[in-house]
Amino acid sequence: MATRRVGVIMNGVTGRMGLNQHLVRSILAIREQGGVPLPDGDRLVPDPILVGRNEAKLRDIAAAHGLTRVSTDLDACLANPADEIYFDATLTSLRVGHVGRAIVAGKHVYCEKPVAASTMEALELARSATRRGVKHGVVQDKLFLPGIRKLKRLVDDGFFGRLLSVRGEFGYWVFEGDGEGGPAQRPSWNYRKEDGGGIVLDMFPHWRYLLDHTVGPVTAVQCTGATHIPERRDEQGRRYAATADDAAYATFALDGPTGEILAQFNSSWAVRVYRDDLLQIQVDGTLGSAVATLRGCKIQGRAQTPRAVWNPDVPNAADFYASWQDVPDEEGGPFDNAFKVQWERFLLHVATDAPFPHDFCDGAKGVQLAELALQSWHERRWIDVPDLTPYPPLRAAERGNDERRPPSPQRGEGVRG
Ligand SMILES: NC(=O)c1ccc[n+]([C@@H]2O[C@H](COP(=O)([O-])OP(=O)(O)OC[C@H]3O[C@@H](n4cnc5c(N)ncnc54)[C@H](O)[C@@H]3O)[C@@H](O)[C@H]2O)c1
Repeated sequence: MATRRVGVIMNGVTGRMGLNQHLVRSILAIREQGGVPLPDGDRLVPDPILVGRNEAKLRDIAAAHGLTRVSTDLDACLANPADEIYFDATLTSLRVGHVGRAIVAGKHVYCEKPVAASTMEALELARSATRRGVKHGVVQDKLFLPGIRKLKRLVDDGFFGRLLSVRGEFGYWVFEGDGEGGPAQRPSWNYRKEDGGGIVLDMFPHWRYLLDHTVGPVTAVQCTGATHIPERRDEQGRRYAATADDAAYATFALDGPTGEILAQFNSSWAVRVYRDDLLQIQVDGTLGSAVATLRGCKIQGRAQTPRAVWNPDVPNAADFYASWQDVPDEEGGPFDNAFKVQWERFLLHVATDAPFPHDFCDGAKGVQLAELALQSWHERRWIDVPDLTPYPPLRAAERGNDERRPPSPQRGEGVRG
């Protein structure tokens, strides 16, 4: 058995997602387990170089985790043929610029969602990556959570009979940062539209892949958004106007396995939690229902369904929670961190061509749903979600012949110094 090194340029590791989920719980965890096993018995070991603007912060992170390679020069990293993969967890508004440059440099690219801030840009990245012949992938972590995997298994096994509806309840209270409750739990750019913030752009890409891959493709959307908290305080304690949506109340039509299904999703950073988890999804069907959270999933079959009778005149005597049963973990489960599982699959995809459906084309669908939801809100109407596949096919001559310049860096961007 031999180990094979794969160099990974990691941009955005000083941020919440980049540090915790991607560096520590994915790449370092994969290194600690000795790499990803390959079909020929070898093991693929990722070797990260941490890229960002602040060298001192990068050095601190590297030192804390036994790493040595850091850089503040993204272009120099992209020019190094020894590092084949570029990963991006920087701000959403910077994604297209960073990832576009990596594609032109011939790197395989993997990034946080959303792939871009607009469908056009996301599709352009997908086309550009395809032309260059590089592999591309986007984070779709919720698909690898035990609760969602259990839900998918129930759908695939026909547990629900005829699927009727889906209810998604997501959210929690994000403190305003004014001292009460401590600092805000999320970065302030999330609440500024001009910086790529907003709950629709943040969460609807998740809802799209989750519904598409678990229940059925989303075919239409109607959405109303809101900015419930108009002013917040940033990381330095300064007041700022919250210009982005912090809640969205949406209905999606789905082309389910047994006919059309309606899915209602409430997403909010201004709601208090009275449910089992920050995300809870209920699916109802003629033969049974399920309630999935991040890690768990409970079911109630038709035979266990209580015969509820409406009577407000006497106290309710029924325990409606009693007849729900836990869905057991999959064989071999429970699984590792969802981000790590997806990283392992992407690394395998790069090394062996193993299938990886979570590519930029799929990621573009998430951006499309967010964009159409915002349009629905502003026009106060349902909007059909056009099928993005098949993508405009590439002419053979276009493959490997992308001579265009990389997208130019955006205002405020720059990883040097
Ligand atoms: N998959 C998920 O569940 C999930 C959850 C939260 C966020 N995200 C996504 O991850 C991305 C990062 O979100 P976050 O919450 O970690 O944000 P964050 O603000 O904590 O981190 C942002 C990172 O970008 C870097 N950055 C900021 N400005 C930059 C600039 N001008 N040039 C270069 N780098 C710059 C920061 O230094 C930091 O490393 C977003 O695109 C977001 O949509 C995904």
